[in-house]
Amino acid sequence: MTLSPQTAADGFTSRYGRTPDGLWQGSGRVNLIGEHTDYNDGFVLPFAIDRSTVVAVGARDDRTVRISSDFADAAETAALDDLAAEALAPGTLSGWSAYPFGVIWALGRFGADLSAVSGVDAHVASDVPTGAGLSSSAALMCAVATALNDEWQLGFDAPTLARIGQLAENKAVGAPTGIMDESASLLGRRDAAVFLDCRSLDSEIIDLGFEQAGLQLLVINTRVDHEHATGGYAERRASCEKGARELGVSSLRDLDVGDLPRAERELDDVTFRRVRHILTENERVLDTVRTLRTEGPRAIGSLLDASHVSMRDDFEISVPELDLAVATAQRSGALGARMTGGGFGGAAIALVDAARIDAVSDAVTRAFADAGFREPELFTVRAADGAG
Ligand code: ADP
Ligand code: GAL
Repeated sequence: MTLSPQTAADGFTSRYGRTPDGLWQGSGRVNLIGEHTDYNDGFVLPFAIDRSTVVAVGARDDRTVRISSDFADAAETAALDDLAAEALAPGTLSGWSAYPFGVIWALGRFGADLSAVSGVDAHVASDVPTGAGLSSSAALMCAVATALNDEWQLGFDAPTLARIGQLAENKAVGAPTGIMDESASLLGRRDAAVFLDCRSLDSEIIDLGFEQAGLQLLVINTRVDHEHATGGYAERRASCEKGARELGVSSLRDLDVGDLPRAERELDDVTFRRVRHILTENERVLDTVRTLRTEGPRAIGSLLDASHVSMRDDFEISVPELDLAVATAQRSGALGARMTGGGFGGAAIALVDAARIDAVSDAVTRAFADAGFREPELFTVRAADGAG
């Protein structure tokens, strides 16, 4: 990771005037391929990145939780008794602390006895850019969930902590997201991706082998904030559910590309294209896993490219900045490129020969300037160990 954990410890000491009991981290993630497939019970292939959120935690002797962040001026406070409620009273949580406090509430919903634990002080430091599609929110939630799982000796395993994070995001924050981000942040392993079946929640670690193949993964943060995109995300989710309903299945996972001719006959054009993205994207994830295992990472470029086209034309979640980032990376020598994450802004990724990173980066920066777009932020990431 590029962030020193000491930053969180120092922040804790300067806010609370004592040293923390320990430090825990949750990772940001890049999704290599498999977009919007998670809430359709499909396949995803994300990895945890070497950018993370670290939380420093110290026990208190009362029932108050205080949390602060390098990100915010004041500490936020909540009472454990309020967070132990079965349903959160409307308006209990707001702003950034809805993520960590939502995690505490969700731990309770998964059976943690919140009446038996004492409060904590916590301070958060992070080098995951927020709103860039790299899941700074999942990094924050997974850091907090991992910390409190240890501090309060709750004994949840990583897949359950992922479900706890998802519940917090869905019900406490109110974003109808799937299970991918938390799974990547918690299950990620160095130089490997997490191949997750979002129906069974079975996962497998798949070696990426980028370094041995002389490749690097470039992230192009367009700085188009995807924060206001919740509406678009929820609308895509509703289209997928409509498609499944009209085709007589409980989720799109029950269909594959062989069902596309029937889908085209029975669905309106927009719903059909949404469904086509999901069915072809599931197939591309399986093809990517197969290709990584047989031919290696240099052979996956065309799958990344095809995924972007499908998101641009069928799922319609790209924006001009993402399309320009992808097209310029491809033209200047990337093996493959696509937008990553929920869409409507955020980041693109490009798989690039290490020797060509500067050339691709310069070309993207120039293309953005020529187009009059905001200057993008470019950096490489490695697949890293997830939360701990
Ligand atoms: P992302 O793709 O980065 O997860 P989101 O919009 O889903 O984007 O989540 C970003 C939000 O998560 C921020 O606006 C903030 O509320 C919260 N957040 C993320 N990281 C931190 C942090 N280090 N400190 C405080 N809040 C954070
Ligand atoms: C993210 C969301 C994930 C996943 C992704 C699209 O923003 O949190 O659950 O759906 O979009 O693949």
